[in-house]
Amino acid sequence: MPINPFPAYAPPSIVGQSPQIQQIRRMIERVGKSRSPVLILGETGTGKEVAARALHQAEPRGSFIPIDCGSLVGPLMESELFGHAKGAFTGASETKKGLIELANGGTAFFDEIGDLPLELQVKLLRLLQEREYRPVGSLAWHKVDIRVIAATHRNLVQQVERGLFRQDLFYRLNVIALRLPPLRERKEDIPALIERFLAKSSSRYTVTAEALDLLKAYDWPGNVRELQNCLDRMMAVNSGPLLHTQDLASSLINFGLAQRAGKTLVAAATQNAAAIPHPSSRGVVRLVEMERVAIVDALKQTRGDRGMAAYLLGIGRTTLYRKLKEYQIDAVSD
Ligand SMILES: Nc1ncnc2c1ncn2[C@@H]1O[C@H](COP(=O)(O)OP(=O)(O)OP(=O)(O)O)[C@@H](O)[C@H]1O
Ligand SMILES: [Mg+2]
Repeated sequence: MPINPFPAYAPPSIVGQSPQIQQIRRMIERVGKSRSPVLILGETGTGKEVAARALHQAEPRGSFIPIDCGSLVGPLMESELFGHAKGAFTGASETKKGLIELANGGTAFFDEIGDLPLELQVKLLRLLQEREYRPVGSLAWHKVDIRVIAATHRNLVQQVERGLFRQDLFYRLNVIALRLPPLRERKEDIPALIERFLAKSSSRYTVTAEALDLLKAYDWPGNVRELQNCLDRMMAVNSGPLLHTQDLASSLINFGLAQRAGKTLVAAATQNAAAIPHPSSRGVVRLVEMERVAIVDALKQTRGDRGMAAYLLGIGRTTLYRKLKEYQIDAVSD
């Protein structure tokens, strides 16, 4: 099961100065110290897990155990969560601790709670009400002291109406609700987020003013995660310290986001990329453009033989490889 109860990285703090994020930070400070359940709502990539970790950090006790509810399926799901007694079922040769036992004294983070199977919803409700559970195949009830934080991108009210989510559990979880707004509703956070993501890299990168405008113009359906992926991609394709509009265009297209972005960003980015003066269309040619054209020409002449192209250009192979990367020249055919 893809659960790592002990992530090695330190929890990132919540970046952003928009009124909404400031409000979230205040809420976390206020309710972080209590042990009541918190329900975190928000679209995908808005930072629900970041908020859950910050809640845990507000009063760090015990471990923070993420539980991916979507992966709790099949015959072993109850045992994953609550553990089992020796001999509880075929193959249960030893007593096994479940995730709840690991979270005892700390925080259990039920990620995508909307996907928790109904059978387990009943058991979670009992855990919240009575603070006890029974491992599979065991007769004894185990007492626990756990803080429960749950998150979902789904509309739980609708799930309740459809009979997919227990109403009593919903009420129990919904005592304190944190709603993380989508990134498009707090675009003023974009520059600070970019700064945070660029700072993670060992090289020093800066986004050009033009590229920043485009990053702020985009609607980010995948929210902060999409922004982060986009920047990672821009850094990967660029070898210089400046991240340009062109990198953005290729980054988004490579991510297959062109359709989702509609006309806004990709169109603007591609238009900008096309607006870079081509040698034949202007009196003055930028040196980098001349270099690029010279490299493409050399590769065409040598039918893609890079060693020969480097020789013709009077540069070393390594330099050519670096420049191919820099100019994003993949393969040249005639
Ligand atoms: N306010 C923020 N400050 C810093 N990093 C953030 C912030 N919000 C989100 N992130 C980063 O964006 C990425 C997505 O955040 P997170 O995993 O918390 O989102 P999520 O709401 O749980 O998404 P999903 O619904 O897809 O699970 C993470 O890498 C996280 O570190
Ligand atoms: Mg998440």
